[in-house]
Amino acid sequence: FNAVTGYGQPAGFNYDEAKLPPYTLPDPLVTSAGKRVTTTSQWEKIRRPELLKLFATQVYGKTPERRLKTRYEVILVDSMALGGTAIRKQISVFWTEYPNLPSLDILLYVPKNRSGAEKPPVFVGLNYMANHSVSTEPGIVLSTRWLPNREDKKVVNNRATEAARGVQQSRWPLELIVSKGYSVATAYYGDLEPDHAEGWKTGIRSVLDPPTNQKSDSWQAIGVWAWGMSRMLDYLETDGSVDAKRAIVIGHSRQGKAALWAGAQDSRFAAVIANESGEGGATLSKRVFGETIERINTTFPYWFCPQYRTYNGKPEALPFDQHELLALIAPRPLYVASAQGDQWADPKGEFLSAQKTDPVYQLYGKKGIGPGAWPPIHQPVGETVRYHIRAGEHDVKRYDWEQFIDFADKNFKR
Ligand code: GCU
Repeated sequence: FNAVTGYGQPAGFNYDEAKLPPYTLPDPLVTSAGKRVTTTSQWEKIRRPELLKLFATQVYGKTPERRLKTRYEVILVDSMALGGTAIRKQISVFWTEYPNLPSLDILLYVPKNRSGAEKPPVFVGLNYMANHSVSTEPGIVLSTRWLPNREDKKVVNNRATEAARGVQQSRWPLELIVSKGYSVATAYYGDLEPDHAEGWKTGIRSVLDPPTNQKSDSWQAIGVWAWGMSRMLDYLETDGSVDAKRAIVIGHSRQGKAALWAGAQDSRFAAVIANESGEGGATLSKRVFGETIERINTTFPYWFCPQYRTYNGKPEALPFDQHELLALIAPRPLYVASAQGDQWADPKGEFLSAQKTDPVYQLYGKKGIGPGAWPPIHQPVGETVRYHIRAGEHDVKRYDWEQFIDFADKNFKR
């Protein structure tokens, strides 16, 4: 276990199915007043807003409504990217009222081999080690922003070195994505808020809602990262080269938590993918397996709203669980992915949570996971809601992307 990154599988937590304390899950189709939801209109008018409010006030904090003024600047365009198969654009989003606030720097790849006039759908996701980490293409601007010091990632004194190019390229199989006719837009999450306790001081929260006068439902870093993905989509709506109506928000781990919250709040995202998002993401909190609410609030006190801490050590007190966050994405396609080596995220809890959205998708006439048991590795299950567990560690692999692309193909009927 690495105390700096928070990665790994800490000892002293429950990883034993036989030692699970019993738990009961709330029914997503029963309102706070105890009424059963039987129509999509009741879901959309009563229950969905109720749940959105619960997640905002109890878990992620309230997203500020004020919009920041923006200016988009296309910094660089290369029409011969990825061996001539793609156009690569680098766009900076400047927050014009706040010239000292770091820009949000978007790296966008658009496939050239498109059939007919169809604009490509676009994957929208944050990255961990800045845009230069997703590919060794020398034209990508080397970020000068604060990065976590990690020798293996070629970061020295919290700054990237030239050697940091492509350090996370295995997580972003750009050639594969582009060859299948998809665009992909990514940005460094630290442009929005660096991932440490003081990170807010140089991030969006410093101007939009500083935590100095902290309320129980003040948003924190996960909320900011989710907000940032919606701002990426704002830009993509203005970029004529992609189909922003088929934007798929995607995130891994802590960014998977943010992707789910982004997808729940912003229905412009046509589909949502959460890879190994774990506690505070796709997995069930009341199922005490692997990471706990108390542990996540202790290690990462700047991720969730202060109110979330009141559930430390008592997940049974939550009036909802994370399957209801997933249900907020209905009827849009949702993919939940786990890894066998990532017991910390509770793979089975992620599966059960995805499965528990079935009644909500059924209201819309959609088939989700279905009633089957937790599948073995490399056997994805489900239709509009899909799930897989792969072999290997906590990471994003080519296998994961292959499934995500297949899923997008099916749901977008390509
Ligand atoms: C830690 C944290 C998890 C998180 C993960 C990650 O392990 O406890 O909740 O998902 O880091 O972001 O990789």
